[in-house]
Amino acid sequence: MASSSSSSSSLLPLLLLLALISPHAASPVPASDLLGAAREPGFAAWLRGVRRRIHQHPELAFEEYRTSGCSELVRAELDAIGVSYSWPVAKTGVVAKIVGGGGAGPVVALRADMDALPLQELVDWEYKSQESGKMHACGHDAHTSMLLGAAKLLQSRKDDIKGTVKLVFQPAEEGYAGAYHVLEEGVLDDVSAIFGLHVDPSLPVGTVASRPGPFMAASGRFFVTVIGKGGHAASPHHAVDPIVMASSAIISLQTIVAREIDPLQAAVISVTFVNGGDAYNVIPETVSFGGTFRSLTTEGLSYLKKRIKEIIESHAIMNRCIATVDFMEEERRPYPATVNNKGMYDHARAVAGAMLGEDNVKVTDPIMAAEDFSYYAQRFPAAFFMIGIHDEAMTTGVHPLHSPNFVIDEGVLPVGAAFHAAVAMEYLNKRTTTSM
Ligand code: NI
Repeated sequence: MASSSSSSSSLLPLLLLLALISPHAASPVPASDLLGAAREPGFAAWLRGVRRRIHQHPELAFEEYRTSGCSELVRAELDAIGVSYSWPVAKTGVVAKIVGGGGAGPVVALRADMDALPLQELVDWEYKSQESGKMHACGHDAHTSMLLGAAKLLQSRKDDIKGTVKLVFQPAEEGYAGAYHVLEEGVLDDVSAIFGLHVDPSLPVGTVASRPGPFMAASGRFFVTVIGKGGHAASPHHAVDPIVMASSAIISLQTIVAREIDPLQAAVISVTFVNGGDAYNVIPETVSFGGTFRSLTTEGLSYLKKRIKEIIESHAIMNRCIATVDFMEEERRPYPATVNNKGMYDHARAVAGAMLGEDNVKVTDPIMAAEDFSYYAQRFPAAFFMIGIHDEAMTTGVHPLHSPNFVIDEGVLPVGAAFHAAVAMEYLNKRTTTSM
C-alpha cells in the first residue's frame, strides 16, 4: 500500500519542471515509487523465482556454495543486474557494491543472511526443499531474494543514489556468527549505517515492526561435563553420584533468574538436554547437560555466564564431583544483544510509514530470540526490522520460524526489496543534506 499525498496534484507542474532542469533529481517519493516498481508483475515473478530456487536447494552455515559461492545464484544474478561484488567474504559470503552517479560519497549497508536449517521440510509444495534434512525454515531464502531485488531496484536508479550502497549476502547466521566473520574481513570498514530485515510469521504482508533500543537478546550456550565415580546403585556410599550433582545444579541455575535478576529485566536460562546413565542399577561415571542463556543486554549475558559457572562448580564441590563448563565460544561465538540505534530506527520507520502507511508500521516488544545482526549493530548505527509474511487467505495456517511446516506469502518479496532500497536511498539523501 503506497502512501498518497493530497497536495501532490498541485505540486505536479513544479516537480515536472525540476525533473526537466535536473535529470538526476531524486524521485520525490522514492519509497512508493520503489514499491510500485517491485510489485510490477515481471519484477515480482523474478523475485519469486529467485526465492524458490534458493528454497529448493537449502545449504547450512558456511556451506552456501550454491547460494553464493559457486554462484548459481547470488553472483549470477548480480552479474545479470550488472552489480560488482567481493567474493568470497567469510568463506561463502558476497558483498556487492553500487556506487551512485555522484561518486562514492557516504556508504550505507543492507544485509541478508543466506543459510538454512538442519530440518526436514514437511510442507508439500512444488518448490519443496530437494535436500534431505535441510530447509529454509527461517526465511533466509526470502531475505536473500529481497536483497537481490533491492540490488536490481538500486542499480536501475543508480544516478539518483547519493553515495554508495553495500549489499551484504552473509553466511552462517544460524549459530555460527557469520556477521562477525564478515566484519573481520574489513569489507565493511567504510560503512556509516546498516539495515537488516527478518521475516515474521505473526505479521501480515505489507507490515513491518521493530523498536528503538534493545530489540533482540544476547545469547550464549553452555555444555557441562560432570565426573563422579560409577558404582552399584545398591551401594551409593561406594560411588560418587553425578546425577544428584547435576540435578541439584540444574535446579539452582533457575534461581539466578528468579532471585538475582531484576524482575523488570529479561533473562533466560534453559537447560535443554541431560545425558547420563543407561541402567536401573548402575550409578554412572559421568553426566553431561547444557543449554542456552539469554539477556537483553550484553552485560546481563556476562553476569549469567559468570553465575552459571560459579553455581555448577560449587555444586560439584558440594557433591564431590568434578565439573567443567564449556561455553564453546571459539566454535560458536555468543551473540550480543541486537540494539537498534534510535536515529536509524526513526529513519527506517519513517521510510516504512511513507511506503506502507503509518498503520502498517508497528512498535513491537523485545524478543528473546537472538540474531547475529547484533555484531553489525555493535559496530555501526543500525536498525533491524521484522517484516510480515502472513496472508489471511493462506490455507496452511501460521507456523513459527524454525517449524518444518514454515511457509511464507511471497507477497512479502517486493515489499522487502523496496523497503531495503528506499531505506538506503533515503539515508544517503538525508546524509548528504543533513548531519545524519
Ligand atoms: Ni533467521
